[in-house]
Amino acid sequence: MNILLLGSGGRESALAWKMRQSPLLDKLFIAPGNGGTGAYGTNVASLSPLDFEAIDRFVADNDIDMIVVGNEDPLVAGIRDNFAKCRPDLLIVGPCQTGAMLEGSKDFAKQFMMRHGIPTAAYRSFTADTLDEGLEFLASLKAPYVLKADGLAAGKGVLIIDNLEEARQALREMLGGMFGKSSATVVIEEFLSGIECSVFVLTDGHGGYRVLPVAKDYKRIGEGDTGLNTGGMGAISPVPFADDTFMEKVTKRIILPTVQGLIADGIDYRGFIFLGLINVGGEPMVIEYNVRMGDPETEAVMLRVDADLVDLMKAAAQGDLADKELRHNPQTAATVMMVSGGYPGDYKKGLPISGTENVTESTLFHAGTKLDAEGQLVTSGGRVIAVSSLADDIASAVAKSFASVEKISFPEAYYRRDIGRDLMK
Ligand code: AMP
Ligand code: GLY
Repeated sequence: MNILLLGSGGRESALAWKMRQSPLLDKLFIAPGNGGTGAYGTNVASLSPLDFEAIDRFVADNDIDMIVVGNEDPLVAGIRDNFAKCRPDLLIVGPCQTGAMLEGSKDFAKQFMMRHGIPTAAYRSFTADTLDEGLEFLASLKAPYVLKADGLAAGKGVLIIDNLEEARQALREMLGGMFGKSSATVVIEEFLSGIECSVFVLTDGHGGYRVLPVAKDYKRIGEGDTGLNTGGMGAISPVPFADDTFMEKVTKRIILPTVQGLIADGIDYRGFIFLGLINVGGEPMVIEYNVRMGDPETEAVMLRVDADLVDLMKAAAQGDLADKELRHNPQTAATVMMVSGGYPGDYKKGLPISGTENVTESTLFHAGTKLDAEGQLVTSGGRVIAVSSLADDIASAVAKSFASVEKISFPEAYYRRDIGRDLMK
C-alpha cells in the first residue's frame, strides 16, 4: 500500500524507519519530512500537514491508501473528519476531532477521566469570569500549585509554582492571555508526586487495542532534571518500575476505561493514545493524554516493537485489531537526543553536521536536520538527531548511544549525559 506520513520530527523518522521494514509498504511519502526521512521514502517538503485541500490532491495524484498523522495539530484541526466525508475509503491513523480534544483541551480530558472513573489529580477549571473563585481555590490548596492552560501551548502551558502569591499572579496572567486563547480556560489541579512514564496504546475504535512498549522521557534541558522544559532530551524503554503488577493496574484502571469510554462517548478513535502516567506510591494516575506517539519516546519504542507496524496501523484504521499480535523485544532501548546549543531558547540553524556515516552500533533518527542546496546535511531545529541503541540493559544501551553521539559533530552540539541514570539505581 501507499502511505502518506505527516510530520517532520524524530518521531516521524522512527515511524518511517519501522514502516519501511513492512512487506505491505509500496510507496512512502513523508510531508514535510526532514534531512533523514528521505532514506525511507520520498519527502514532500512543500506539503503542509494542515493544508487539507493540498493533501486531498496529493492523495488522488499518488494513490495514497493510508495517512499516518505524526503530530497532534492536523488531528486537532479535524483531518479525520475532513476525509471521512470526501474520501471514505482512505485509511487514517489518528482520532476524529472530538477525540483529539483529549490533547487539545485539558478541561475536556479531565471531564472525560471523571466521567469514566479514571484516576487523575483532583482539579477545577476557571475562566476570566470565575477568576475570584480561582484565586480562592488556590488558597485552599497546598503548594506546589499546578496551573495548566486548557489548550495547546507547545508544551509550555503547564506552570508548577511553589509560592501562593506567585500562583495567584500566574492565574491572573494566564486568564489575561499569557498563552493567547489557549489559556482562556485554566485547569488548576492537585500536585502529584512520583516518577512519570509514557504508555502508548494503539486502538481500533471497536474495543480492540494493543499496548506498545513503555518508555520514560527526559524533559528538562539540564542533567539531574534541571533547567527549562524541552520537547524531550532522551528516552528509555522499558521502564523498570512499570513491571507486570503496575501494568496490570494500568490496563484495568486506565487503558480499558479509556478505550471503552471513547466508544461509550461515541468518539471515533482509531490511532495512538499516549498516556502520560505518574507512579504515585505504586498506583498509576493520568497526568495527561496525547493523541499521537511521543517524541522522543517513539525513537526508543520502535526499536522494541516486534511486529509489522504497517499491518497494525492498517488494522487499527480499519477497526479490526483484534487478531493482531504485537510482541515487545525484551532488550532495552536508549535514545539520546543531540540538540542545538542554546535550545530550548534561541539557537543557530544551518550548521553542518558530520560523522553520521561512522555510526554503526546505533540507529539515527533525524529530527531538526535538512539537506541544504549543496546536499550537505545541516541543522534546522532545536532537537537535531536522536541516537537510539538496543542492548541487554540500560547501562549498556546508553553507553552504546553515547559512543555513537561522540562520532557525530556539529558546532555547539549538546546532549544530556545522564539519560537513564535515575532508572539504574
Ligand atoms: P502536561 O502537559 O499535563 O503533561 O504537564 C507537563 C508536566 O508537568 C508533566 O509531564 C509533569 O511533569 C508536570 N505535571 C503536570 N501535572 C502535574 C501534577 N498534577 N502534579 C505534578 N506534576 C505535574
Ligand atoms: N515526549 C513527550 C511528548 O511527546 O509530548
